[in-house]
Amino acid sequence: MFKKLGEDIAAIMARDPAAKSRLEVVLCYPGFHALLLYRLANAAWRRGWFLLGRFLSHVGRVLTGIEIHPGATIGRRFFVDHGMGVVIGETAQVGDDVTLYQGVTLGGTSLHQGKRHPTLEDGVIVGSGAQVLGPLTVGKGARVGANAVVLKDVAAGVTVVGIPAQVAISRAKQQDTDFCAYGTSIDMPDPVARALDGLLGEVTALKARVAELEGAPAAGAPANGSNGHRPDPRPDPRPGASRDGN
Ligand SMILES: CC(C)(COP(=O)(O)OP(=O)(O)OC[C@H]1O[C@@H](n2cnc3c(N)ncnc32)[C@H](O)[C@@H]1OP(=O)(O)O)[C@@H](O)C(=O)NCCC(=O)NCCS
Repeated sequence: MFKKLGEDIAAIMARDPAAKSRLEVVLCYPGFHALLLYRLANAAWRRGWFLLGRFLSHVGRVLTGIEIHPGATIGRRFFVDHGMGVVIGETAQVGDDVTLYQGVTLGGTSLHQGKRHPTLEDGVIVGSGAQVLGPLTVGKGARVGANAVVLKDVAAGVTVVGIPAQVAISRAKQQDTDFCAYGTSIDMPDPVARALDGLLGEVTALKARVAELEGAPAAGAPANGSNGHRPDPRPDPRPGASRDGN
């Protein structure tokens, strides 16, 4: 139990860039508190102490806003970042190293008693507000975009987004297998740099167009003549002179 908790704390430290110390995780992380109460509730549930299990799960929900049914199966190093509005149903199965953000539902779509909640395989990341509904499987290492609604199986390693969720990035393109904070690629370009690049491109194109309209080449624009000057299309007025020098 203590070994597992140590692992849980280390996992939170590794996955949340905002976490400064282990003590901070223990005192201030609702995801950690919910997991602690879930483990107690689940132990009670497995012994047939259903009311105690439900009560501990309810205490966890009141304290953290994260509702994990005591009958759910949760793997090791599970991390719910921020908490609030997370619901994990009774027959949900969550593998190891799974990360959920606030507002995620692992919910059912039917009232039958059997398996009716999703299975998340190892290393899955589910973005904030995403709804994963029904007895489907989200494959190993897959990522679910913020606010997506997942209604069918997701293959291992792919990223799905939207309502209903569709594949946005296939496994071939998604090469980073390590955890990436917030599910975003580590080598994602800086959005400010990307915007500046776009602006620079537009400014260069506009300068070239202005120069073209004014009949003079712009600095940095590709020159048409070998000496960097645009060739004069008018005939040479000097007597006997021709444009090719003859
Ligand atoms: C889905 C996600 C994992 C993809 O991240 P990524 O690998 O960096 O991919 P990109 O940002 O390059 O996006 C790929 C495509 O999916 C689209 N997309 C990304 N996230 C989306 C989302 N949540 N909903 C709809 N479309 C989305 C992008 O617009 C892009 O489309 P394009 O190729 O047509 O331009 C990420 O955007 C995401 O939603 N992460 C969850 C973050 C989160 O919940 N944070 C909470 C912190 S409190």
